[in-house]
Amino acid sequence: MSAGLVQAAYIIAAVFFIMSLAGLSKQETARSGNYYGIAGMAIALLATIFGPHSSGIAWILVAMVVGGGIGIHYAKKVEMTEMPELVAILHSFVGMAAVLVGYNSLLDAPETATHAEHMIHLVEVYLGVFIGAVTFTGSIVAFGKLRGIISSSPLNLPHKHKLNLAAIVVSALLMKWYLGGDGALFPLFLMTLIAFAFGYHLVASIGGADMPVVVSMLNSYSGWAAAAAGFMLANDLLIVTGALVGSSGAILSYIMCKAMNRSFISVIAGGFGQEVSVSSGDEEQGEHRESTAEEVAEMLKNSKSVIITPGYGMAVAQAQYPVHEITDKLRAQGVEVRFGIHPVAGRLPGHMNVLLAEAKVPYDIVLEMDEINDDFTETDTVLVIGANDTVNPAALEDPTSPIAGMPVLEVWNAQNVVVFKRSMNTGYAGVQNPLFFKENSSMLFGDAKDSCLKIIEHL
Ligand code: TAP
Repeated sequence: MSAGLVQAAYIIAAVFFIMSLAGLSKQETARSGNYYGIAGMAIALLATIFGPHSSGIAWILVAMVVGGGIGIHYAKKVEMTEMPELVAILHSFVGMAAVLVGYNSLLDAPETATHAEHMIHLVEVYLGVFIGAVTFTGSIVAFGKLRGIISSSPLNLPHKHKLNLAAIVVSALLMKWYLGGDGALFPLFLMTLIAFAFGYHLVASIGGADMPVVVSMLNSYSGWAAAAAGFMLANDLLIVTGALVGSSGAILSYIMCKAMNRSFISVIAGGFGQEVSVSSGDEEQGEHRESTAEEVAEMLKNSKSVIITPGYGMAVAQAQYPVHEITDKLRAQGVEVRFGIHPVAGRLPGHMNVLLAEAKVPYDIVLEMDEINDDFTETDTVLVIGANDTVNPAALEDPTSPIAGMPVLEVWNAQNVVVFKRSMNTGYAGVQNPLFFKENSSMLFGDAKDSCLKIIEHL
């Protein structure tokens, strides 16, 4: 394949990637967005493998078969609830790839025409390795936190912000040494170790409640790492693709920070400027009330309006199908049923929307938090299905709570609230929920799917 043809293929692939992002921004077009992405990636791979700069095609194919096989295996096996973990570990691969490409690109430097070009290449390698190394360890910590291998509470080392600043300053000084030594390997190696520690510390310092933002931020970093690799390899498509991922991840992080009322700068700087929380809400909250499925079914039959607020527990229990059945039954009896979706309910952006779409719940009764939050006051019954942090009044009422300031679904304003969960355990952020102890709340203990099936029997 000639160089001109490869460039043309790259432009077509880049257009497909942009169409893919546009498609993925709406539920109705998400499927076609995926297909555009697949088409773009297929064109990009073919053009790169058969382009003029590739050699050892047999090796590339072997690597693709092995890597693709592992990818297919895990993609088939992974549960929806484990998706963020998978995404986090995949980001770490992008980070490590950028580090390896950086070292390779330094050791096997291309012939450059001028001194200026050579220096630019050295800077590209340094920055690429730095971003890649931060992304690598940061993503591994995010993976560990999401999987529960690492504690989700923030690591609070003394002088943590000074440590972060020191890592950046020392890395900048090492860059001077590295450039002065015409790409000296030792300072690059030292900086890599510092960047590994920096990435680890940056993400470890962020508490569980802010993890959604961290995952999308690492998505952004992995994009910049890929773009940096594109500069090192002089590959235009990698630069474009990396920039698309980097900027869309940054925009998503910003949107999520706004949704959770968090400062964007504070989160990307490892919790900089955040007060250390003093309350976990564990103090005595009072008595809770329990309900049975029969009582809840009766309550639902006597309601005119019902709002269902699902959360992570619905995903774990795979309760979306019986939830849809309850919805259908109630609507057939003339009850108005709607869904209220918190932007960070579940474990990945859009998690609840995906599950409800899977169960074929009509889109027009699925509303975002901002669209429905004022309607709880006129609602007879709210079913909180496996949600916890996203319906926690402490976010609004307790300024010392780790989730203070996060907008939540104000379910307690309804006449009756029924909380479906298995125990009095806390949610992801590890804070107790005063909702469970309010007078108009009752608990329906058990697996959310079983509870829904029992309610259906009684409806
Ligand atoms: P959570 O606060 O995580 O609470 C989920 C609740 O579901 C738990 O209290 C659990 O209680 C219950 N549960 C688990 N399995 C269940 C089952 N089989 N049947 C019934 N209940 C079950 O959920 P949420 O309200 O959706 O909030 C999401 C949290 O995750 C937020 O803190 C958010 O910041 C964080 N997070 C979100 C994302 C994104 S992007 N959405 C990514 C990472 C983290 P029991 O154990 O007592 O049953």
